[in-house]
Amino acid sequence: TIEQKKYLVNGELKDWKGNSTDVFSTISSSESYAKTRLGSIPDMGEPEAIDALNGALGAFDKGKGVWPTMHVKDRIECMEVFVKKMKDKRELIVKLLMWEIGKSLPDSQKEFDRTVEYICDTIEDYKQLDRNSAKFEKHDGVYAHVKRGPLGVVLCLGPYNYPLNETFALLIPAIIMGNTTVFKPAKHGVLLITPLLEAFQSSFPKGVVNIIFGRGRAVAAPIMQTGKVDVLALIGNSKSANALQEQHPKSNRLRLVLGLEAKNPAIILPDADLDLTIDECIAGTLSFNGQRCTALKVLYVHEDIKEKFIKRFSQKVDELKFGNPWDTGAKLTPLPEPGKPAYIQELIDDALAKGAQIKNKKGGQQTDNYIWPAVLYPVSKDMRVYQEEQFGPVIPIVSFSDIEEPLDDMAESNYGQQVSLFGKDVYALSPLIDTLVNLVCRVNLNSSCQRGPDVYPFTGRKDSAQSTLSVHDALRSFSIRTFVAFKDN
Ligand code: G3H
Repeated sequence: TIEQKKYLVNGELKDWKGNSTDVFSTISSSESYAKTRLGSIPDMGEPEAIDALNGALGAFDKGKGVWPTMHVKDRIECMEVFVKKMKDKRELIVKLLMWEIGKSLPDSQKEFDRTVEYICDTIEDYKQLDRNSAKFEKHDGVYAHVKRGPLGVVLCLGPYNYPLNETFALLIPAIIMGNTTVFKPAKHGVLLITPLLEAFQSSFPKGVVNIIFGRGRAVAAPIMQTGKVDVLALIGNSKSANALQEQHPKSNRLRLVLGLEAKNPAIILPDADLDLTIDECIAGTLSFNGQRCTALKVLYVHEDIKEKFIKRFSQKVDELKFGNPWDTGAKLTPLPEPGKPAYIQELIDDALAKGAQIKNKKGGQQTDNYIWPAVLYPVSKDMRVYQEEQFGPVIPIVSFSDIEEPLDDMAESNYGQQVSLFGKDVYALSPLIDTLVNLVCRVNLNSSCQRGPDVYPFTGRKDSAQSTLSVHDALRSFSIRTFVAFKDN
C-alpha cells in the first residue's frame, strides 16, 4: 500500500497531518474481484489549495519570476531532467495504472511510453516554435520582436481514464511555455503521481509545479474563487468545467483549455467491408471498456446490412476475454468507478423499457465491478443510452436508410468531436466527408475514432472541447503572442 502523505507546494514537499481518504482498487489478486485497499491520499481543503495557489503566483511573480523570464534553453533543460527521472519510475507507474484504474498491461505500458514521447516531442516542438516565432519583423517602418509568452497561473485537472497521459498533455505544455501551475490529480489514478513528486520538486524552480490532493470541489473551487487563475485546463466533464468557471469572479478573462464529453458515431454504409468494420467497431466501442472520450458511442448501421452486422458484431463482443489487467489477452477489465455497473444497468433498463433488445447472449451480465457489454438494438432518440455519454460498456445501434438521418442527428447533437465512416468507395464518399468535417473535427475513414498520433489536432466542436490539444497546438493554447515594437528613427 502507498500511504501518500506528501504534497508539493512552493518547492517544498510538505507532510500532510490531516485526514486521509482511502484509495481502493476494484481488482484483487484473488479470483473474486473484490475491493482491495491500495493506500490513501490527503483529503485537503481550502488552506492547502490557497497555499498551492500562492506558490504558483509567487513563482510567476507578476511576470518577473525566474520561470516566466527564463531562457528557452534553460527551461528545456529542466524538462529534460524531469523526463529522465520519470523514465526511472516506469515499472511502478505501469503497475499502479493497472491496479488503480484497471487498464490492461499493454495499454498501461502504452500510456506511460506515449506520455514520455509526448514530453520529448513537446520539447522538440518548443525549440521549433522558438526558432520560428521569436524573431524580428519590420512592417511600415515599425520593427517588432515577436515571441510567444506565458499566460500566468494554470489550474490543471486531469481525467481518471488517462491519469498520466492526458493530465500531462495539459501540464507539460503549460509548464514549458513559462506558466506556473497548480495540479490536482484525478480521483482514480492518483497514487501513480506519488512516485513523481520528487521528480517535479527537483527538476523545476520552486512554485512552478504545485501538487495537491483532495476532492475537486474542496480544493479547486477555492482556487477559482480568488480570481487569480489565468487558465483552467481540464479534461473531464462539462458539468465540472462549468461549475469551476462560474466560481471565477472574472470568468470572461479565463483562458479555457478543455477536453470534454463526446458521443462519437460510426456510420456504416451498405458497401462497408464487414470484417474490418466489425474489428474497428469492437476496438472503438470497447477499448478500455468504452471509458474514452474518443470511444464510438453510437453505431449507425444501414438497413441493408443491419442484420448481418448485428449478428456478427454481437458474437464478437461475447468472444472478448474478461480478466485482470495483467492477464494475457484480457480486453475487458474491471471498472474503476464503483457506481458504473449500476449506471450502465440503468441505461440498459431504460432502453429495454422503450423497445430495445439485448442482441448478445452475455450482454448485461454482472460481477462485482463489471457489467458485460450489452449490444442494444433498435435504439431510438428517446432512450437515455442514445442521449447520454455512457463512458462504459454498452453499445447502442441505430439503423438508417437515408444518410440524412445520421447527419441530422449529428447536427443536432451537443457534441462534435469525431466520426468514423465505413464504406468502400472513399472517392465517391468525398461530398459526404466534406459535410462531416463541418460537423466534427476529425473524420476517420474505415477506422475507429482515436486521439493519436498526438501530433494531430485533438479538439471538438460545441460542448466537446475548448482550445486544441496536440503536441503542436497545446503550446499555442497555453501561450499568447507578444511583441516589443520600436520605430526606425
Ligand atoms: O478520453 C479521451 C482520450 O483522449 C482518448 O484517447 O483515443 O488515445 O484513447 P485515445
